[in-house]
Amino acid sequence: MKILVTGGAGFIGSHVTRMLLNSGHEVVVVDNLSQGKKENVDKRAQLVVADIRNIPESTFKGVDSVIHMAGLIIVPESVKDPVKYADNNVIGTIDLLESMRKANVKNIIFSSSACVYGAPKTLPIKEDAPVHPDNPYGASKAAIESFLQAYNANFDFNVTILRYFNPYGPGEMHEPETHAIPNFIKAALAKKPIPLYWNGEQTRDFIYIEDLARAHIDVLSQTGHNIFNIGTEKGVVVKEVLNEIFNILGYKVPIDNLGKRPGDVQANYASSEKLKKSVGWQAKVDLKEGLKKTIDFFRSV
Ligand SMILES: NC(=O)c1ccc[n+]([C@@H]2O[C@H](COP(=O)([O-])OP(=O)(O)OC[C@H]3O[C@@H](n4cnc5c(N)ncnc54)[C@H](O)[C@@H]3O)[C@@H](O)[C@H]2O)c1
Repeated sequence: MKILVTGGAGFIGSHVTRMLLNSGHEVVVVDNLSQGKKENVDKRAQLVVADIRNIPESTFKGVDSVIHMAGLIIVPESVKDPVKYADNNVIGTIDLLESMRKANVKNIIFSSSACVYGAPKTLPIKEDAPVHPDNPYGASKAAIESFLQAYNANFDFNVTILRYFNPYGPGEMHEPETHAIPNFIKAALAKKPIPLYWNGEQTRDFIYIEDLARAHIDVLSQTGHNIFNIGTEKGVVVKEVLNEIFNILGYKVPIDNLGKRPGDVQANYASSEKLKKSVGWQAKVDLKEGLKKTIDFFRSV
């Protein structure tokens, strides 16, 4: 198949692009390089440097499906500037959908987030749990999901929404970085204090990047309207992740206690039973193995 990957120069998009190419698909990456980097894009893919709000029509020629990963992702920034997130993520996606409609490309897989659930009432979180985001980033994802449902209902789009829990792994180089695992590893390798919010008491579901990327390939031929959680189904307390990193490194560094952070929820982890039943996907890489590979990556850069 020929797949257009938006945001393919970013952390997750570059892994998905490589995995698609390795599985024999043809890939066109669209990225405005606001966060992503050219060097992240596999040389076998075609890179179109463009904003999703204004993709050249010719880019869609021969495209079977779009994997839409482009977006701004920093929760605290979205709390400071919700309009920026509505403009880039929500309006940007509607512009993309309109470009797809004109080009008669009607298959889309969308990178959504566990943020759409806000603070869950029950754990593990299933896909039919209420959507009530706690921050503007999550609200942008929920709004996009609603538009995708409307495009499925009105224009026969095949829509697959993947709600990621907490992806991590080699190549995670956001600027600024707000995610726990890369920040813990970078600080520990530099023998600097570990930046820790909420005393590390939060529970999260850390999903290794290769497992996450594989889910996109597995859902390529889904039709209709589908929503799937992508997680390991195992909630881990953040301070346990830190201890595992210290164990792997064989030393500890002090903690820099940063207190509370707006927009965070106390605990979430996924039920991914639905995706397992539909396509047989399940996470394979455990936390220890994933952390080792991630530490190796950060040692090498
Ligand atoms: N990383 C996570 O923890 C996480 C969790 C849940 C969901 N997601 C979603 O997964 C997707 C990828 O996340 P990531 O971690 O790889 O982020 P990333 O910042 O590394 O990648 C996003 C890419 O989108 C590009 N982009 C942003 N706005 C654009 C626009 N208007 N037009 C064209 N390109 C644009 C950026 O340049 C960047 O390369 C995002 O949609 C994100 O919301 C990520």
